[in-house]
Amino acid sequence: MDAQQVAQVTEMMYALRNPAGIPTFPIIFIGLGVLTFALHILFVQLMLGTSAITLYGAFNNNAYWRRLGAAMLEIAKVSVSVAIVVGVAPLLFVQVVYDPHWYTSNVLSADWVIAFIVILILAYWAMYYYYFQNGKNQDKTVQPKSRWSMITSLILMLVVGFIMHSLTSQILHPELWKEWYMQNGKLDYSGTQLHAYNIWRYAFFISMAIPVTGAMLVTYRRFKSVREDADHDYLNWAAEVGKKWIKVGSVISTVLYVAWMATLPETAGNFATSVWGILGGVAVIGYALWAQLRLKGEARFCSYMALPMALVIGLVVAISREMLRYDILNGFFNYNFMDYKIVMDWYSTGLFFLTFAIVGGVVLSYFLTIAWKSGQTVGVYTPGATVNKLGTLSIWIVALWIVQFFVVGFYVWAQ
Ligand code: HEM
Repeated sequence: MDAQQVAQVTEMMYALRNPAGIPTFPIIFIGLGVLTFALHILFVQLMLGTSAITLYGAFNNNAYWRRLGAAMLEIAKVSVSVAIVVGVAPLLFVQVVYDPHWYTSNVLSADWVIAFIVILILAYWAMYYYYFQNGKNQDKTVQPKSRWSMITSLILMLVVGFIMHSLTSQILHPELWKEWYMQNGKLDYSGTQLHAYNIWRYAFFISMAIPVTGAMLVTYRRFKSVREDADHDYLNWAAEVGKKWIKVGSVISTVLYVAWMATLPETAGNFATSVWGILGGVAVIGYALWAQLRLKGEARFCSYMALPMALVIGLVVAISREMLRYDILNGFFNYNFMDYKIVMDWYSTGLFFLTFAIVGGVVLSYFLTIAWKSGQTVGVYTPGATVNKLGTLSIWIVALWIVQFFVVGFYVWAQ
């Protein structure tokens, strides 16, 4: 592309920018976008990996695999909901600072964006169908019923992920947007096509399901081992599978990461050999080394570190991924999200962080405490006075939040 063509693309992107500006510093949106993307992809990977174990268990006659499959289904179910909830957050952030890119990409593939929701609902239903068919048969040796629904669920989840991947890839090619819109001299309003993808990048993010799920297996052993009815032979076996998955999975993912870096578009310049390009891959292979060093034997403390470590590695990759976007859009096309017009709104900025810290903090602590304790209790768990107080506090905080929402809303409306 010559300088004039690049200038045209730059101008087009700025023309598409929302003239109303944004309510706080753009770097805050990017920071939160990266953080929440790391959380999103962690739960996506957990959901895919635990679903795969569920399936493997369903087709295997080995009693341990059967049992592990049933146990991982419980985690898969929860992970899908968490992945969806924490998927919304990066979506909100990316559409604020990269609105010209996000919306163009969405409009160009509008049918797929709508299909995304429908496919996701079907995938979730299929998983629950399998669960309802087999939920009561946990740990039993009978062959699970309706295995087709679990296969369907996993395939559809992968399709959903591919749609997201393609939308993200299209963002990186503003030079092609017009071409995609005007095909063979005709305007294509249909939105029926996904125009860009990088199979290595997609495979890399999906493959990280292997080490992340390995981390879950190691954590599973540690968590369940304190129960009075713990079957240590089975749990130790599961943790050994987990360690293997972390090590082998990290190597596979590193290879795919390198393949992704080797197939970057020309507009990415030297990103692959830049600090961030290298750091992403080093972090992934570093996970295998960490597991080799820190997960020896029972690893009572480090077992609980396996998932947080996976999150840290995911975060490094998420930063690299964001730097790649910045390098292409700013480095090559001179579009800088940092020069977005700011119309400072301290109230909404403050409310966001307070909601995150106080509402999120207290309510989440309550939920997690209940989930943690009931998972480690044999039979029915009855919360003590402190946990009950935390529950009451959570309800009050949420109620207060709703009240302030309406009070401020009516106040602003009445102005
Ligand atoms: C449950 C199935 C899902 C899977 C398997 C999945 C998978 C993925 C993958 C692989 C990526 C990385 C794409 C890339 O960088 O190449 C991604 C990014 C993303 N996903 Fe998901 N996702 C799922 C659901 C969702 C949902 C329900 C939402 C939100 C409503 C969501 C929002 C996002 C966002 C905002 C990004 C980043 C976009 C960007 O930074 O450009 N995802 N997802």
